[in-house]
Amino acid sequence: MSDNYVPDQILGHADEADGIEEYDNRLPRWWLGLFLFTVAWSPVYAIHYHFIAHRSQAAEYEAEMAAAAERWPQMSAEDVAKMEVTEDVIAEGKAIYEANCVACHGADLHGGIGPDLTDSEWIHGGTRDDIIQTVTNGVADKGMPSWGPILGPEKVAKVAAFVHQAGGGQ
Ligand code: HEC
Repeated sequence: MSDNYVPDQILGHADEADGIEEYDNRLPRWWLGLFLFTVAWSPVYAIHYHFIAHRSQAAEYEAEMAAAAERWPQMSAEDVAKMEVTEDVIAEGKAIYEANCVACHGADLHGGIGPDLTDSEWIHGGTRDDIIQTVTNGVADKGMPSWGPILGPEKVAKVAAFVHQAGGGQ
């Protein structure tokens, strides 16, 4: 900032910049003040965030997942494996089947786009565990979606129990 500063003087390089002209005015004091304040604030905030409050995205993610697990409890893989196949489980499985599977396997399980689930022919195995595996992972190159990430282990186990019972499970 030299003493011969005169505001609102055109710098005169429109020829280099497609006719766009420019001034070289001083920054407004309020703007400069705000800028210096943010510079001074950032180490304070960083030190507080990392070393005093010990916050991190990973910790926040874990806390949110823990809160969600409490609010919407999911059965663990072990609980699913031990799940007793009661009439209620079959009824819930039927509802899950009707909501997700009918389009390809038919309301009566006799197939359509997907194979018949009532015959005794199984491409990927007809035990309850086999069906859980197929439904969880899907068969990507044949058009069977992978339901594990969509339904979660509990619903997969329930729909598999229904298919196993209503179809020709082995
Ligand atoms: C977009 C169509 C589609 C939907 C929706 C779908 N499937 Fe499938 N499914 C298929 C196809 C296609 C196959 C055949 C895979 C192959 O040939 O390997 C298949 C295969 C299967 C098999 C294996 C059959 C065997 O003979 O081993 C099971 C079990 C099964 N599906 C269950 C389900 C369940 C339960 C749902 C609902 C949660 C579902 N499917 C939803 C298309 C679908």
